[in-house]
Amino acid sequence: MGKGGRVLHLTRRGRIVVGITAAGLVSAVVLPLTLGGGSTPTAAVVAPSPAAATTAPPPTSPAPGTGTSPTQRPAPTPSPTAPQHSLTDPTSIWVVVNKARPLDPRTYVPPDLTSVGDGQYLRAPAAAALLSLFASAAADGLSIHADSGYRSYTYQVSVHDNVVASLGQSEADIGSARPGYSEHQTGWAVDVGGDGCEIATCFGTTPDGRWVAANAYRYGFIVRYPQGLQGITGYEYEPWHIRYVGVQLATAMHATGVQTLEQWFHLPAAPAYLRSS
Ligand code: DAL
Ligand code: ZN
Repeated sequence: MGKGGRVLHLTRRGRIVVGITAAGLVSAVVLPLTLGGGSTPTAAVVAPSPAAATTAPPPTSPAPGTGTSPTQRPAPTPSPTAPQHSLTDPTSIWVVVNKARPLDPRTYVPPDLTSVGDGQYLRAPAAAALLSLFASAAADGLSIHADSGYRSYTYQVSVHDNVVASLGQSEADIGSARPGYSEHQTGWAVDVGGDGCEIATCFGTTPDGRWVAANAYRYGFIVRYPQGLQGITGYEYEPWHIRYVGVQLATAMHATGVQTLEQWFHLPAAPAYLRSS
């Protein structure tokens, strides 16, 4: 695929959309939303410590593209007294979903989906936080909105299939998660946009995107797919995709400069799927 500024189709209010960004990123916005049946929330969070939550050894190689080795630092915890949350339970605000860590069950449907406007939904705590973020940005003269929030497994099937049909599997896989592997299915992740740039790399250089990068942590969100860390996250830079992890963890990551959940929790890097489907 050539690296062009082509956006095949994009709207903030509806329709599924495959976007090819200036950097060749592939994005999919899936609308209108079909929520499907809700699931009953289980115990809010199970609470292993980050270190106990995985038996995987810390990654040993430096984070690609960073010039530093955050993976070699001990993973700090938000605070010694902080509540700990599961890294595997999809209801947990700390669940880590990546190419090596599909949702369990793959067809998980989150509870308490709540509107964030523009036909988009998030889990209730994330929705409240996002609306606060929007309000704060508006007070600073910016206009940020939700382009794509919760996406069901079934919806992600159509999203991913469309991207694969447009770009082929390998290109699709660096911008669009396979069904059962998308953070959007947890209800904790949302693609946000601002005037003039939607779901494209350019968002990172707009006032809106800069504001999100600088302030999202105050509302409990992280930019989940940072620039230069595809070797860890499995995805190219997505300045528009923010993930709710709670204010405590987001603030701690911001303060320490640890950019990914894989690094924070000393989980293995997930540059590729472990099997073909
Ligand atoms: N674009 C992200 C990786 C997703 O499809 O979930
Ligand atoms: Zn996204």
